[in-house]
Amino acid sequence: MVPEWNGFPKNKPPFYHPAIVFGRSVSSTRVAFLAALSLSVIYLVCFASSFGSPISLAEVSSLKRPEERLAYATYLAPTRPEPENDDDDNYFIACRMVAYQIMHAPETKTNRSIPFVVMVHHELRQSKKDRLKRDGAVIVEVEGIRPEEWMMSGMMEKYMDLYTKLRVFQWMQYDRVLFIDGDHLIVRRLDDIFDIPEATMTQQTHKNNSALLDGETGQPSEYLLAASGDLHSYNHPFPPPNIGAFNTGFFLFKPSIQLFEYYMTLMKLPNSHNPEYPEQALVNYAHRPEGNMPFAQFDWSWNIILPNGNDWKWENRAASFHEKWWRTRAVREVREELRVVKESMFAFYRGRDEASWY
Ligand SMILES: *[C@@H]1O[C@H](CO)[C@@H](O)[C@H](O)[C@H]1NC(C)=O
Ligand SMILES: *[C@@H]1O[C@H](CO)[C@@H](O)[C@H](O)[C@H]1NC(C)=O
Repeated sequence: MVPEWNGFPKNKPPFYHPAIVFGRSVSSTRVAFLAALSLSVIYLVCFASSFGSPISLAEVSSLKRPEERLAYATYLAPTRPEPENDDDDNYFIACRMVAYQIMHAPETKTNRSIPFVVMVHHELRQSKKDRLKRDGAVIVEVEGIRPEEWMMSGMMEKYMDLYTKLRVFQWMQYDRVLFIDGDHLIVRRLDDIFDIPEATMTQQTHKNNSALLDGETGQPSEYLLAASGDLHSYNHPFPPPNIGAFNTGFFLFKPSIQLFEYYMTLMKLPNSHNPEYPEQALVNYAHRPEGNMPFAQFDWSWNIILPNGNDWKWENRAASFHEKWWRTRAVREVREELRVVKESMFAFYRGRDEASWY
């Protein structure tokens, strides 16, 4: 609040109107006060400018949250049925590929020392955990979340372990996490995504009771959650349209026990979502645009799912593409890049493993 002085315009600090002030007869104490005030203003201006100018924007953003614990994360469940040889497990190789791109590949690795964490299902084979650890990843093992009885009829066996992915929201050891499914081609370093408004903005939960199902309780009062937009087909225009759907292959969030507990209540509510697309459908219900907790959507320049030739050919293309390295329908250029990543990854680790044997 601005204090009120006699003779000053109401609600205006005195130094805004020196001419008015000095045009009147003023007491000597007031002159002294104003002199002191102008000196301190001059001092402040000098101090602020000498302090402000040498700091670049990049430094400001790194100063903003000096103690923040950030992480990249992915999730790996057992492939059912499990191939005999780990190298024949496409999802396991994909997991190692995304980890390699973020930890070690020269063009795309983190340059802020953000750890790469693999959340593994408790039934994942030991040899896979050992390999990922040796690759440089942090391993967090979690108890699998079992689907509920009502989900069973609509669910494919290979999707059984996907609800467990929601356990990343329990990771209170981190402040913010970027989650990426294994099947990704990273084109540019992703570190800067942690600084953009969608990734830093805490949202307030709306209080619309009509947007709740019977028995739906426990929405947290605020949350931070941004995701890449989902698409249902390779056949989309450029830039990809916003269809209001949350892609659970690429999202950034602030862990929250309350948010996790809320998801668990949705698991117990039959027909809150279609279990054919397990965690994806649950999160899309919880964060639908017209609900109480809509998600923030990343611009396509960060991530595109089901990329087509158009998405790829744009000169300043997206930073990452959601695609399986073994998918024959994938666009030729993306498949070729993924092949290069896979070979570079094997060569990199072969070199490192051999060096550590001597
Ligand atoms: C990290 O990489 C970005 C480009 O991806 C670059 O602009 C930045 O200067 C790099 N920072 C450091 C500390 O090397
Ligand atoms: C509250 O939610 C209902 C059901 O989704 C919707 O029809 C209504 O428009 C919402 N009201 C407001 C104020 O957002």
